[in-house]
Amino acid sequence: MKFFIDTANLKDIKEAQDLGVLDGVTTNPSLMAKEGITGSDNITQHYKAICDIVDGDVSAEVIATDYHGMIKEGLALAKLNDKIVVKIPMVKDGVRALKYFSEAGIKTNCTLVFSTGQALLAAKVGATYVSPFIGRLDDISTDGLSLIRDIRLIFDNYGYSTQILAASVRHSMHILNCAKLGADVTTSPLSAITSLLKHPLTDAGLAAFLSDHRKAAGN
Ligand code: E4P
Repeated sequence: MKFFIDTANLKDIKEAQDLGVLDGVTTNPSLMAKEGITGSDNITQHYKAICDIVDGDVSAEVIATDYHGMIKEGLALAKLNDKIVVKIPMVKDGVRALKYFSEAGIKTNCTLVFSTGQALLAAKVGATYVSPFIGRLDDISTDGLSLIRDIRLIFDNYGYSTQILAASVRHSMHILNCAKLGADVTTSPLSAITSLLKHPLTDAGLAAFLSDHRKAAGN
């Protein structure tokens, strides 16, 4: 399973990259705003900076919601770097835009997916990634993970190559459950990735090893 980080924070992206587990980055307009990145020149420079850090795909979201606007913005984003994946919202014009980019050989990520029907449409038009938002479904007392399970079943039934990019992943158990269900990718904050490292028995075991070593050495 691929690990993407869901942030526009360059320090976190660098830390995940240095850990050696990072396969890509997803951003969205809210995450860019959180880092104080505004204005098209700054946004462009920021995407370039992210691409310089990571080896894998970098999702960059269009702001337009009409077909021609999405095509114009998406083409400009795709020109920035081969790593750029044009992120398109699941709206009617977005489906048409996904089809356009798919036929043009430009990678896409269909975002704001909350149902199997939306995922099926994205796969039909050849999206590279589809992003079901599991955390936001959990937030409204709906089982986000069951959406991953159902999309996996449907895509496998028909051999769709669209990758399931589990998004709105909030913690390490989301990552592990997505792995069990066969998601192709999870995108999460750095904290969800690093908390996979932690186990109290590891900490206790290491402390005992080091203490025994010190005692044997007479320290
Ligand atoms: C997906 O690509 C989105 O950027 C993201 O996962 C949204 O997560 P949130 O629900 O934590 O904002």
